[in-house]
Amino acid sequence: MTKPMGQVRRATQGDLDAVLNLDQRNPVGHERSELLSARVRSGECLLFEREGKPVGYLIMRSRGFFGRDFIELLVVAAQDRRTGIASRLLHEALSQSLTRETFTSTNESNVAMIALLHKRDWTFSGQLEGIDEGDPEFVFYKRAARAAIRP
Ligand SMILES: CC(C)(COP(=O)(O)OP(=O)(O)OC[C@H]1O[C@@H](n2cnc3c(N)ncnc32)[C@H](O)[C@@H]1OP(=O)(O)O)[C@@H](O)C(=O)NCCC(=O)NCCS
Repeated sequence: MTKPMGQVRRATQGDLDAVLNLDQRNPVGHERSELLSARVRSGECLLFEREGKPVGYLIMRSRGFFGRDFIELLVVAAQDRRTGIASRLLHEALSQSLTRETFTSTNESNVAMIALLHKRDWTFSGQLEGIDEGDPEFVFYKRAARAAIRP
């Protein structure tokens, strides 16, 4: 995997506006904005920044899914996609995870996210009905390669 130019760091309160405005094609609604604000405050948001400008973020909930870490959101600015940023954020999240498996999920219709997870060797866990009508939630996980993890 070629490394995209830029760096990953934890988001702070000062990054909140940039995070909220990152995906111009899908403006963040009130509900999402409250969630992002809470996650930045709790230190659960990783940012990918290029030349001082956030271009992608990932929200990781510690032990948020049956005692396993859970990636709740992963977003890359539309103009910066297909340059390896989401892959880099996933890699960083996995390297920081302290649980044996890390989980994430996305709608069946999200071709890009599903292709990304397959490409990065995530395993399909199953599907959940009843969240978005007619568009099941596909759950994936990846097992940590490291030894220093808690069950
Ligand atoms: C899904 C998303 C995060 C991917 O981010 P990204 O930075 O473009 O992903 P990467 O560059 O790391 O992609 C790695 C690989 O995933 C696959 N992939 C990513 N996007 C793809 C697409 N639109 N179509 C097909 N394959 C895709 C490809 O195999 C790609 O490798 P390649 O570019 O060498 O062919 C991005 O499209 C996005 O922000 N979408 C909107 C938000 C969203 O739906 N998030 C997921 C649910 S929270």
